[in-house]
Amino acid sequence: MDVAVIGCGYVGLVTAAGLADLGHSVIGIDKDPRKINKLKAGIIPIYEPGLAELVQRNLVTGRLTFTESIRPAVERSVVLFITVGTPSNYDGTADLTQVEAVAREIAAAMTSYKVIINKSTVPVGTARRVKELIKKHLPAPVAFDVVSNPEFLREGSAVHDFIYPDRIVIGAESVKAVALMKELYSGFLKKKVPFIVTNPETSELIKYAANAFLANKIAFINELANLCEAIGGDIETVALGMGLDHRIGPHFLKAGPGYGGSCFPKDTWALIQIGASYGSPLTITKAVVEANENHKRRMALKIKDALGSPAGKTVAVLGLAFKAQTDDLRESPAIPIIEELIASGVSVRGHDPAALTEAKKAFADTITYYEDIYEAARGADAIVIATEWEIYRQVDLPRLKSVMKDPVIIDLRNIYRPDELSTAGFRYTRIGQKDIR
Ligand SMILES: NC(=O)c1ccc[n+]([C@@H]2O[C@H](COP(=O)([O-])OP(=O)(O)OC[C@H]3O[C@@H](n4cnc5c(N)ncnc54)[C@H](O)[C@@H]3O)[C@@H](O)[C@H]2O)c1
Repeated sequence: MDVAVIGCGYVGLVTAAGLADLGHSVIGIDKDPRKINKLKAGIIPIYEPGLAELVQRNLVTGRLTFTESIRPAVERSVVLFITVGTPSNYDGTADLTQVEAVAREIAAAMTSYKVIINKSTVPVGTARRVKELIKKHLPAPVAFDVVSNPEFLREGSAVHDFIYPDRIVIGAESVKAVALMKELYSGFLKKKVPFIVTNPETSELIKYAANAFLANKIAFINELANLCEAIGGDIETVALGMGLDHRIGPHFLKAGPGYGGSCFPKDTWALIQIGASYGSPLTITKAVVEANENHKRRMALKIKDALGSPAGKTVAVLGLAFKAQTDDLRESPAIPIIEELIASGVSVRGHDPAALTEAKKAFADTITYYEDIYEAARGADAIVIATEWEIYRQVDLPRLKSVMKDPVIIDLRNIYRPDELSTAGFRYTRIGQKDIR
């Protein structure tokens, strides 16, 4: 099928390259000319494992092309994906400016039947809103359908998640649109991937419900981690004991510095606002947001506590991205931690195997940047593990200790075992366990 994907960020780029790999002829469109020029040359502007190979393979076959111009892409495609950003407004509602701009641009270029697919995460009612908007901006009447098809990929394993989705959710009102969606995703249907067809409102809600529930699990285990620290319990064992119950499952029960990223914070807020606008309060989600905010604040206090008197100290923060395997810093727990440390007079050094370019945009010259872990640690008063990158697990702990001024580790991801830290001679703070000072 001829497909256009409008917005080549984390979701759009993976969708475009993934659909091309399934055999479709795909044009990726982005308004950022630098991004498009890079993509045309096979250079991937983001860090996402496996994505470069997927894009390059499909560029070579000609099944995947990139452009800045939406009009010709709309004219030649039947299926049009909207994959632009939906950040938070100040009040927590989703900002639909980008989605609406794309809807207007599509409308202006439409001369034949199209299915417009909303893959961006959008509030309940957006499919209908986009439909109205397109109708209003059509130069001449033409038939079209708007479909909700939320995306569930995880940054860091986005290519895998595209190839092996847990489910495909379609919110549509027309039989023709559903048939086209089934044709588009026929490769997944053959593999018996569950296909949920429902109305657009339900489909839109499924995405928010899934993210809010996952955020819920994280906030819950983090609150229990705090309790473990108070009672002398061990959160890892609590999570194991809970997760082995099949009704609960082990996933997302990993205590850490609080959830961040481009989705959970904004999507929980947006869900709360959706509930409020329909007079149906989401009290649990509200509590999750509050618990997560409190927990993130607590992380900086934990570090300051481990430092004793923070002013004048030097701390190496290992991991700046919001999680491993991505260069995305959006709502990263490292951000409030670093801000608080700087405000307390700490000199902060940052290391990340993939996110240094993004980090420099976020922190500018308020911190110093290191590409080598041991150099970052040299002469430092403490190390904070803020992201669970595999290379931090592989660190030579005795060597690390030998270059530090004071052998203190604040492991906010519990990547090291207490016994290996003790053996290497570190004083350490973990999440949900007793500190060893
Ligand atoms: N990132 C994730 O892990 C993830 C997962 C599932 C769903 N989502 C949702 O998918 C959507 C996109 O997220 P993302 O992380 O890919 O965003 P992103 O910010 O990485 O990418 C958005 C892209 O859209 C482009 N864009 C904006 N307006 C445009 C226009 N008028 N024409 C052409 N291009 C335009 C931007 O230049 C940018 O490249 C959001 O709604 C998000 O909530 C994201």
